[in-house]
Amino acid sequence: MSILLICTGRDPKVWVNAIKQQQPNVKLYVYPEAHDPLEITYAVTWKHPKGVFNKYPNLEVIASIGAGVDHITSDPQIPKSTLVTRVIDDQLTKDMSNFVLALVLDKMRNISLHHGENKWSPKSYQTLEEEKIGIMGLGVLGKATALSLANIGFKVSGWSKTKKHIDGVTSYNGQKGFKEFLKNSSILICLLPLTSETENILNKELFEQLPKGAYVINVARGEHLVEHDLLEMLDKGQLSGASLDVFRTEPLPEEHPFWKHQKIHITPHIASVTDPEKVVHQLMENYKRLKMNKPLKNVVELKKGY
Ligand code: NAP
Ligand code: GLV
Repeated sequence: MSILLICTGRDPKVWVNAIKQQQPNVKLYVYPEAHDPLEITYAVTWKHPKGVFNKYPNLEVIASIGAGVDHITSDPQIPKSTLVTRVIDDQLTKDMSNFVLALVLDKMRNISLHHGENKWSPKSYQTLEEEKIGIMGLGVLGKATALSLANIGFKVSGWSKTKKHIDGVTSYNGQKGFKEFLKNSSILICLLPLTSETENILNKELFEQLPKGAYVINVARGEHLVEHDLLEMLDKGQLSGASLDVFRTEPLPEEHPFWKHQKIHITPHIASVTDPEKVVHQLMENYKRLKMNKPLKNVVELKKGY
């Protein structure tokens, strides 16, 4: 039994060090170094080359090093019998809710706007109680973000598949609750997982149902957003601006129109980034559980896709 680490776009060395520190004797291969595919039962991954797992007949678990698993589920060649797990981590959750809070306050108090103008021109602003925050997705990250915003006095509502009971947060669910939810979102935050149901969900039809001048924050995945619909809605004034942390192509290509758009605020997928030292324990605990034939933690429901 051995572990395969495939870590595209992130430094594998920090993961190797963290794993070795936790379990010095573990047999670990870093893709694409030479190894016997028959030995591999557990893969720790971020953005693997599509189809690669077909070469591993004894692979039992694919563990995402992030909260999202779309980089795994989007591979149609993932063996049906393989379990997929994800990371749930307090630091990752705190980082996300703090990041969104920072964006919301920045937008509300026009801080970046003043900075960009380079002139003495005070703007009026909404008070905390006047802004209506809508969060799409009330899972681990959405719920924590909703609570942190509600706790400082924002009016917060959330939308999810199933109804939630969260103190200070109005819960809408399913297609039935969607219209009402959108009507009540002057700042819309996307924290949905990327699935076939949520891909392209941030589109013109949705934007048109928001209050005029609404602001959009996407910290989930680039594929949630129909980019030309966003540009059109910004140019028409239906939306007042957007903060985007995630993109269809990452890094965002230099020539992309978002870079120069006055109303788009870009960050390079930094809302919450997994700290290997913080999560390696849960990855190794699952590996131990696999070897002992015990149920794993943080298993993804592949039928739902998240
Ligand atoms: P999660 O715990 O799986 O929660 C997902 C939420 O979305 C749940 O509330 C779920 O509803 C809801 N949902 C899913 N499909 C839906 C649909 N079709 N209609 C309505 N609601 C739907 O996910 P999470 O841990 O909060 O993470 C969310 C996403 O954040 C990740 O998948 C990842 O893409 C992104 N992320 C981004 C960064 C970054 O740095 N930018 C970092 C980490 C994660 P139910 O509760 O009713 O099932
Ligand atoms: C980051 O985007 C994650 O899914 O953890």
